[in-house]
Amino acid sequence: MQIQNRIVVVTGAASGIGRALAERFAADGAKRVICSDRDAEGAAAVAAAIGGRALTTDVGREADIVALIDTVEGEEGPIDLFCSNAGVAVWGGLQVENEAWTHLFDINVMAHVWAARHLVPRMVARGGGYLLNTASAAGLLTDLDSMPYAVSKHAAVAVSEWLAIKYGEQGLKVSVLCPQGVHTAMTAHGVGANSVDGMMDPAEIAEACVRALAAEAFLVLPHPQVLEYMRRKTGDYDRWLRGMQKLNRRFTA
Ligand SMILES: NC(=O)c1ccc[n+]([C@@H]2O[C@H](COP(=O)([O-])OP(=O)(O)OC[C@H]3O[C@@H](n4cnc5c(N)ncnc54)[C@H](O)[C@@H]3O)[C@@H](O)[C@H]2O)c1
Repeated sequence: MQIQNRIVVVTGAASGIGRALAERFAADGAKRVICSDRDAEGAAAVAAAIGGRALTTDVGREADIVALIDTVEGEEGPIDLFCSNAGVAVWGGLQVENEAWTHLFDINVMAHVWAARHLVPRMVARGGGYLLNTASAAGLLTDLDSMPYAVSKHAAVAVSEWLAIKYGEQGLKVSVLCPQGVHTAMTAHGVGANSVDGMMDPAEIAEACVRALAAEAFLVLPHPQVLEYMRRKTGDYDRWLRGMQKLNRRFTA
């Protein structure tokens, strides 16, 4: 998909990767860029800077996602590309409370499900559409600092795979963005093992996304090492686990 003349929605557009996506889509000649975020002021600032439109959405609430889709499709036109990008992190393992798991899952997993639930039937009915879901390399490998984050991002990859398989032959395009460390507010307080291959800037992530969208490639891997790690994981799972244990020792030492 080329971005020119497209109606594009980006969630989590007030900051970081979402902001960079919105800026890049506007620069590439999108017809309309909808900057959606629960941070109304931040979304408004980004929208003002790029000539887009801001909408306040908490993607952890299905009703908000329905309202976002209805507003855009009713007032701007059919959504060509929906970037379900907003995400949150909570650090920790077994001690993370149930409420925190649920909150994280609503935003990192169910938001993708809800966007697809309300948009895919419309996209299929009009012959196609594109979903770009932001997961993480943590969704293909793991995250040593956060069990809920790693698990939720695996689920985000699974949602994307499932949609691509079930609706790909009906015109739906799906890509899933799986970066390692990126310089954003989320990583401002440290990144641990996510930084071993170097941190990227949000604009570089947006560049990788635009390329993948043009190629209609499912997996968006701005850090190329991730593909090799996936190969090692699937090639010999036990060896991969031992390697990850070693990395864990290094980062918890
Ligand atoms: N930064 C990284 O290293 C990294 C790596 C891999 C994946 N990711 C993923 O990239 C995505 C964007 O994160 P980022 O790094 O740009 O972080 P960020 O904190 O800079 O931006 C996240 C944005 O999402 C918004 N947001 C959070 N919860 C929301 C909600 N419930 N409803 C609507 N908006 C909400 C925030 O207000 C913020 O503007 C996330 O899904 C994150 O998990 C980040």
